[in-house]
Amino acid sequence: MFAAAGHFLRLFKIARTLARHDALFPLDLLAVPKALATALKLLTVFNRRHVNAAIPPGERLAHALEELGPTFIKLGQALATRPDIAGDDVAEALTRLQDRLPPFPGAEARAIIAAELGQPVDALFSAFDDNAVAAASIAQVHKAVTTDGVQVAVKVLRPGVREAFGRDLSTFFWFARLMERRVPDTRRLRPVEVAQTFAETVALEMDLRYEAAAASELRENMEGEPGFRVPRVMWPTTSERVLTTEWIDGIPLGDRDALAAAGIDMNALAAVLVRVFLLQVMRDGFFHADLHQGNLFVDTQGNLVAVDFGIMGRLDRKSRRYLAEILRGFHTGNYRRIAEVHFEAGYVPRTKNINSFAQALRAIGEPIAGRRVRDISFGRLLAQLFQITATFEMRTQPQLLLLQKTMVMAEGLAMYMDPEINMWEVSPPVVQGWLADNMGPDAYIRETAEATLSLLRYLPLIADELEKRAAVLTAEGIVLHPETARLIGESQSRHLRSQGAALWVIAALLAVLIIILN
Ligand SMILES: Nc1ncnc2c1ncn2[C@@H]1O[C@H](COP(=O)(O)OP(=O)(O)O)[C@@H](O)[C@H]1O
Ligand SMILES: [Mg+2]
Repeated sequence: MFAAAGHFLRLFKIARTLARHDALFPLDLLAVPKALATALKLLTVFNRRHVNAAIPPGERLAHALEELGPTFIKLGQALATRPDIAGDDVAEALTRLQDRLPPFPGAEARAIIAAELGQPVDALFSAFDDNAVAAASIAQVHKAVTTDGVQVAVKVLRPGVREAFGRDLSTFFWFARLMERRVPDTRRLRPVEVAQTFAETVALEMDLRYEAAAASELRENMEGEPGFRVPRVMWPTTSERVLTTEWIDGIPLGDRDALAAAGIDMNALAAVLVRVFLLQVMRDGFFHADLHQGNLFVDTQGNLVAVDFGIMGRLDRKSRRYLAEILRGFHTGNYRRIAEVHFEAGYVPRTKNINSFAQALRAIGEPIAGRRVRDISFGRLLAQLFQITATFEMRTQPQLLLLQKTMVMAEGLAMYMDPEINMWEVSPPVVQGWLADNMGPDAYIRETAEATLSLLRYLPLIADELEKRAAVLTAEGIVLHPETARLIGESQSRHLRSQGAALWVIAALLAVLIIILN
């Protein structure tokens, strides 16, 4: 009961901050019941005064999340990669979320390092700069020199940030469970599962050993790639709350003037970025998914260097093959083939019409066909594709959405470096190589086996009636047909009607709080 009161109060504070920024619209998204939503929206009436109506909703939400602190900044970043949940405009606005906070004192950083590594900072490093180089919601970075004289960047987790996450996440779970139990409509968005995924991602970001491992894996994959470098991890001075990497003496990618003064060939650099990004995606299935100017540098040898491995994407072989086939399909204008890929992989339910799907694909493919290749954005093409697949009831994998967002970022950066860049001209060797490796005779045997398996999976569903009424297979297993889900929902809602009263009690409590606090 007391726990519930605590969650409730925290929820109330969140709602108030959202209201102050006139950013309560996600409530509609969550299908929050009318009574609760109305009570919460009343808050807006009392609080909205300071809001500039000209600011678009996505930005208002971004400001509210920034004010709410680290958990919410991370939540916003996660939502930025989910236009399927947040909507295109809001997701786009959330990509510009500010993740810079005032630094915490160097003395606190020293205390954390000493506690983590069991030795005072002066014993671990021969020099340690107390002024942080950069400070964000989760961590900040200090420049230091190891006892062997190597310059390093020491990333230290913000004090208390893990505890704050724990508290906020338990409220998220409480709210998600409440919604799922009381409001059957929200089940479509699987709130508990979403909270679970979010909690897992954040847990990984809260443990800097995972980031160290990601840096290490990427460095290994990129070994020997000309023009690109990943800093080395210093494991002896790395632990859960401390990450030490080799210091990159470089010019930030955002500093055009300095790059020009250093005589850097920006066009060559753009080609390097596109090539290594596509290698990471298509060859390794492990890519840097936070590609913005602040995370990229050009070192003294003219290499492009990436830092910050907190957000990485992974694509399994099946997804990579899917991407390659789609790329090839659009390239050759074979829309029927692209449609088949979706059906064969079980991404789009068998109940959908393959010809209509191919037609929808043609609608996004043909306008591109007449254009110069350099005007085509593969990231935007994927975004359009996922919009279409959503209307055909394909549940897009979060990893593919992350790729799509990162692709847009990578393309944006490449264009910034070389406005004339021809993305498709830089990419074919990589992509063609992948197509050859994965669609040769060996791949054919694998594919045949896969096709047989997929046929077996569909056998139980051959009866048309059953297919319509019971369930359809997707890549993720059996998903209830909407009609069936509706029937179940209806029978459940009969049981739940009595519990609806609880929501009215919450609404009334909110109303009281509003009156007391305003
Ligand atoms: N190895 C490094 N060498 C030089 N500077 C670094 C290094 N790692 C991080 N930095 C600096 O610290 C900033 C923040 O580090 P980053 O890993 O990007 O943390 P965040 O997750 O907070 O963005 C970077 O933008 C960069 O300026
Ligand atoms: Mg960064």
